[in-house]
Amino acid sequence: MRSPTPADRFSFGLWTVGWEARDPFGEATRPPLDVVEAVHRLAERGAWGLTFHDDDLFGFRPDESTRDKQVGRLREVLESTGMVVPMITTNLFTHPVFKDGGFTGNDRGVRRFALRKVLRNIELAAELGAQTFVLWGGREGAEYESAKDVRAALDRYAEAMDLLCAFVLDRGYDIRFALEPKPNEPRGDILLPTVGHALAFIERLEHPELVGVNPEVGHEQMAGLNFAHGIAQALWAGKLFHIDLNGQRGAKYDQDLVFGHGDLLNAFALVDLLETAGYEGPRHFDYKPSRTEDITGVWDSASANMRTYLILAERAAAFRADPEVVQAQALAGIPDLALPTLDPGESLQDLLADRSAFEDYDPDAAGERGYGFVRLHQLALEHLTGAR
Ligand code: GCO
Ligand code: MN
Ligand code: MN
Ligand code: MN
Repeated sequence: MRSPTPADRFSFGLWTVGWEARDPFGEATRPPLDVVEAVHRLAERGAWGLTFHDDDLFGFRPDESTRDKQVGRLREVLESTGMVVPMITTNLFTHPVFKDGGFTGNDRGVRRFALRKVLRNIELAAELGAQTFVLWGGREGAEYESAKDVRAALDRYAEAMDLLCAFVLDRGYDIRFALEPKPNEPRGDILLPTVGHALAFIERLEHPELVGVNPEVGHEQMAGLNFAHGIAQALWAGKLFHIDLNGQRGAKYDQDLVFGHGDLLNAFALVDLLETAGYEGPRHFDYKPSRTEDITGVWDSASANMRTYLILAERAAAFRADPEVVQAQALAGIPDLALPTLDPGESLQDLLADRSAFEDYDPDAAGERGYGFVRLHQLALEHLTGAR
């Protein structure tokens, strides 16, 4: 397998490789990772970009000199390595002030503070040339129905997004927003829990064209959903502005495993989709090196994400090029689904008059058709595992 290069557009969150592995039951198992070190290590492994939350780089409410110093150190290492910052995100979840949410907290003062924190961070995104600003509403939610007026919370969420869009337009920044859905954790229930909820919400905003989604593999799978299907719908809607690749084993806590270390067949389908649907955004990994890993394990796991992606891309291309697969796809009717159901120029009246479509149609005969989907999927599995 070839090595990753910047042309692959692989990016990593500073909070991923930098995770000290503190969890609700245990303390850190690894030392803090400095941003300069992180950029060097990622660059030498062939990564293209680094992303971060404001707090990852300079903490919560830094004084001006600390903030400037950290941004300066980042700029320098980007310059010397050629790495870029394609996306910035914000932390509206760690500090106790956000315990009931940022944009949708019941406390109006908290909401105004959250907006100011994010506006400041959007300025930084513009300064660093990031074109996507991700918003993961980890605390935008509730544990108790009695404690949150969800319709009012959605009004406040929309109000916040409208203000952020107005800010970007007013400043002339080349930045779009990407909302990241998650069904639960840390809140019992999070608002905009899935890609579908987020897509519906976006259409009700004042500037829907500036807002898309940043779906994460594990988050949709926590909701029992098919991630590749969610991505297909986001692409169909023109809303896949960014993506968080990782691994998850079913509906349990958010595991943030290495990409592919979960539902591997769905990961294969996902890479096939991204590589063939014209998605040109970053291939961003939002994973956590497991708590059992030391620093060597951190960097091995970072490389594993990229390597898995490249392996799956290669296997998916081989699958598509296999003449037996092409034949099985034809038998399965895959190319036929791309044909409009009515002929060019055919009207609804023509359809109503077409006896062959209904009166003379033999549904029993059509019902006897075998689609061969299982054989086709087995061919996919055999390409995926290298058996073909
Ligand atoms: C999670 C989320 C977060 C967000 C990140 C970006 O695992 O619950 O993925 O890691 O992606 O905070 O805002
Ligand atoms: Mn996650
Ligand atoms: Mn994420
Ligand atoms: Mn995460």
